Amino acid sequence: MEPMRAVALAADHAGYFQKARLVEHLRQQGCFEVVDFGTDSENSADYPDFAAKLAVWVAQEPGRLGILICGTGNGMAIVANKHKGIRAAVCRSEYEAKLARQHNDANVLCLGQRLTGDGLAAAMVEVFLNNVFEGGRHQLRLAKIHDMEDCP
Ligand code: RB5
Repeated sequence: MEPMRAVALAADHAGYFQKARLVEHLRQQGCFEVVDFGTDSENSADYPDFAAKLAVWVAQEPGRLGILICGTGNGMAIVANKHKGIRAAVCRSEYEAKLARQHNDANVLCLGQRLTGDGLAAAMVEVFLNNVFEGGRHQLRLAKIHDMEDCP
């Protein structure tokens, strides 16, 4: 039997509620091993701390995926994309989430709780987790991104 795929979630205080609901939803579905890197309350928390924890975990093993939630998604993406091997995409629609996987092989989805409702967030997560990289013409572009990872 294939090992269950793993997905991690993390948020700051501005994404805490949406993260909690998504963790519960994904655990109920039971299709993925779900890792929760916090934060665990609405108390003010610094998004770089949570984005970094998740990014390190995702980059550790090919195939791992992550979901980061803050107020807008932007701070989380900025931090996550500083980590080697991370391709984090801020998405506001299911179409963006789908193309982020198919074309960019994004391994981290960044959401903004202040801008995206729970229903749309759950739909985007579904799309993100269930689409795969198309390769082909996108592979060369990904190789170029990879080569830039050691840029000053
Ligand atoms: C926190 O107030 C907010 O700045 C943060 O959650 C995020 O939106 C940053 O990008």
